[in-house]
Amino acid sequence: MGFNIAVDGPSGAGKSTIAKAVARELGFIYVDTGAMYRALALYVLNRQVPVDDEKAVGQAVENASVTIRYKDGAQQVLLNGENVTGLLRQEKVGNAASAIGAYGKVREKLLGLQRQLAADNDVIMDGRDIGTNVLTDAPLKIFLTASVDARAGRRYKELAERGEKETLDHVRAGIEKRDYDDTHRALAPLRQAPDAVYLDTSDMDIPQVIQAIIKLYHERRTDV
Ligand code: DC
Repeated sequence: MGFNIAVDGPSGAGKSTIAKAVARELGFIYVDTGAMYRALALYVLNRQVPVDDEKAVGQAVENASVTIRYKDGAQQVLLNGENVTGLLRQEKVGNAASAIGAYGKVREKLLGLQRQLAADNDVIMDGRDIGTNVLTDAPLKIFLTASVDARAGRRYKELAERGEKETLDHVRAGIEKRDYDDTHRALAPLRQAPDAVYLDTSDMDIPQVIQAIIKLYHERRTDV
């Protein structure tokens, strides 16, 4: 069993940036579970399956296989053997991932892969239900969040840098909807685990957040 760090929080809190940097510093593997949901969302979108049709989505994903591999330390997601990593960060894929993440068939499909990675490696894994559902015994759990304004501003900047034209209001509305949907679904909703450390990053810069997590890691890890 590897040493596992679970990171959960809403969209745009900076989970992936932070978790990636912590992984690099500690020599851990970074597991981005959102990318796995996004890969299944891409599969469903490519087949024009309506994302609000749970039965149709459940049937469609039976034929999808998600695997991951690492290249120069970065996670790549393979969908039925094809590297789809570059297609996953689009807004429409994220929104579809949020929609299909509510379905049991979709979650079941990814749970085994996530747990296996954590069993075999030292991992920092981010998502919505890692501390509450996937890695309930993780010795370090972080709930990473920031105000809606801070998160919308960051996401807007990230999209603009990639040339995706969205208004700030639209990005903010998308984040609010995603927050609502991710926290209100029946299955594995986004929640802070009772034993997770709450980190509000609205007024912290990236190096400060990274250092806070590294410090917690050294406090929790007593076997090295
Ligand atoms: O972290 P992200 O934005 O890449 O995630 C996209 C969506 O996938 C998110 O809005 C909800 C879903 N998701 C999930 O249900 N459970 C996870 N562990 C990770 C993501």
